[in-house]
Amino acid sequence: MNLALCAHPGKLQAVSEVVQLTLPEEQRVSVSTVTVGLSAVLTCGIQGTLRPPIIWRRNGIVLNFLDLEDINDFGDDGSLYITKVTTIHMGNYSCHAYGYEQLVQTHVLQVNVPPVILVYPETQAQEPGVSASLHCHAEGIPDPKLTWLKNGLDLQPPRSSKQLSLIANGSELLIGSVRYEDTGAYTCIAKNEVGVDEDISSLFVEDSAKKTLANILWREEGLSVGNMFYVFSDEGITEEMCPQGEASQPQSCVWSSAVNVREKYIYVSQPTLSRLLLVDLQAQKVVQIRLPVPENEPAVHKIDLETFHRVKTISLKNYSCVPQSMAYTHLSGFYFIQCQNQHKTFAKPPSQLLVDSVTDTVIGPNLNLSGRAFVSPDGRFIVTPENSKLIVQTVSFQGELMLNQDLDNPLAISDLDFQPSFTESNQHLVVASSRSGTDLLFGDLSTGKVEVLKSLKHPLSPEDWPWGGPNRVVVSSGLFEQYLVTPSSESLFVLNGNKERRIAKFRTSEEATQ
Ligand SMILES: *[C@@H]1O[C@H](CO)[C@@H](O)[C@H](O)[C@H]1NC(C)=O
Ligand SMILES: *[C@@H]1O[C@H](CO)[C@@H](O)[C@H](O)[C@H]1NC(C)=O
Ligand SMILES: *[C@@H]1O[C@H](CO)[C@@H](O)[C@H](O)[C@H]1NC(C)=O
Ligand SMILES: *[C@@H]1O[C@H](CO)[C@@H](O)[C@H](O)[C@H]1NC(C)=O
Repeated sequence: MNLALCAHPGKLQAVSEVVQLTLPEEQRVSVSTVTVGLSAVLTCGIQGTLRPPIIWRRNGIVLNFLDLEDINDFGDDGSLYITKVTTIHMGNYSCHAYGYEQLVQTHVLQVNVPPVILVYPETQAQEPGVSASLHCHAEGIPDPKLTWLKNGLDLQPPRSSKQLSLIANGSELLIGSVRYEDTGAYTCIAKNEVGVDEDISSLFVEDSAKKTLANILWREEGLSVGNMFYVFSDEGITEEMCPQGEASQPQSCVWSSAVNVREKYIYVSQPTLSRLLLVDLQAQKVVQIRLPVPENEPAVHKIDLETFHRVKTISLKNYSCVPQSMAYTHLSGFYFIQCQNQHKTFAKPPSQLLVDSVTDTVIGPNLNLSGRAFVSPDGRFIVTPENSKLIVQTVSFQGELMLNQDLDNPLAISDLDFQPSFTESNQHLVVASSRSGTDLLFGDLSTGKVEVLKSLKHPLSPEDWPWGGPNRVVVSSGLFEQYLVTPSSESLFVLNGNKERRIAKFRTSEEATQ
């Protein structure tokens, strides 16, 4: 009976059974918090006699008919059921009764994540009198608080002690001048509302530290998978990988870009062959994945990396968007697609698109941006160079994409990378290189302060760089080190991102022989 009514809501009044729907004022917005990995049930608060079926939306897209794997059960009472919640599910879900769109309830879904900790180094040996730094990085939602133990006992450094200090909310423990009694196991503990994680960083203070350290490094690092480089040349990765050229011509590979997934797999694309290659680093095997032959329609293909099946094709035709670059944040699951600028002569349409990876649907333009988006490693900051600004957006823990600030940017930016802040946990610096000049820009996302480091020589000109992508890359050494590397046309610069003035320059062989 309900179904028949839903199909013809107009007939309701004809039989004089009036639908009356109510939603208590205090339930118009309902905030739910779920821990990652669990399931979530959102129940629509709209009640009433002869209530038509409940329709759910996320970012304006109706979920009921999408046949999603993780959001597929709408229950007898119209509840929304999310199996195995992840951070991409955070955000707003709205419900209304079919045909009665003016009465809407909004559910704000917050997803909590227990802390995951990494310490660095796991072991170190130092001689008496030098300084020692122990690093601890924790991610979680909400932000974890960090504390330290030494040999199982609370470590409470006195304020303004030069000997022992906690820096950046405890993400660095700095011992100014180590003594023998500083030898010990230092436990970093990260705690938030939904969990605790801990790990140990050991310090040995001894006279023959160099010898000990060499032993430790040899034992720990050896020739492990994480220490290998892969280079994709026109001769392939291994000999069979590329098609044989004409008769005597050597085979030739064309590579586009590659991603490393958890130090286990490298996926690399071969645009002229419409395929991806999967390099299994542990098994040292290469498998090919055929991609759909390009159709005449610009689209993004979503491929399941386990089964290699195409899950979805997101058409970009309605937006006249030929994708040029793409960035992703796991918070709320946004893709930022930069489109090629096809309409140079007209007033340019907005050309950075926002896509929701839960529904695989284009939400619309991302503000009025057109540059390439860069996402910080923790997924919280999205930075887009735009004219003379760096536009900084953040994703809140409620899944809301917000304009955070804009930083002044005097450069034509070639490439950009992130470094963890040296003064505050869960904050970042951005470092950007210039496409044509000799400058490197440092921007502090927590304070908005920008500094430009000059005289890093000129990069190769974009015309002399035939491989696509940035002509001057800048690469940060990751979570625990403070170095940056950027090439110029004849040198390679290694910089200390912390004390920006300490520059070491490694010359290329060409310059060295002069
Ligand atoms: C880190 O410390 C700063 C002040 O030094 C404070 O404003 C911020 O909230 C702290 N962050 C965390 C995650 O505790
Ligand atoms: C594109 O626009 C047409 C016409 O407005 C519409 O019917 C179609 O559903 C749209 N396709 C997508 C993928 O949004
Ligand atoms: C984008 O919008 C902002 C304000 O919403 C405006 O200040 C800016 O000039 C716009 N940029 C472009 C390129 O239209
Ligand atoms: C989600 O809903 C809340 C409450 O109505 C609102 O403040 C917030 O801006 C919404 N977020 C998004 C992403 O629409």
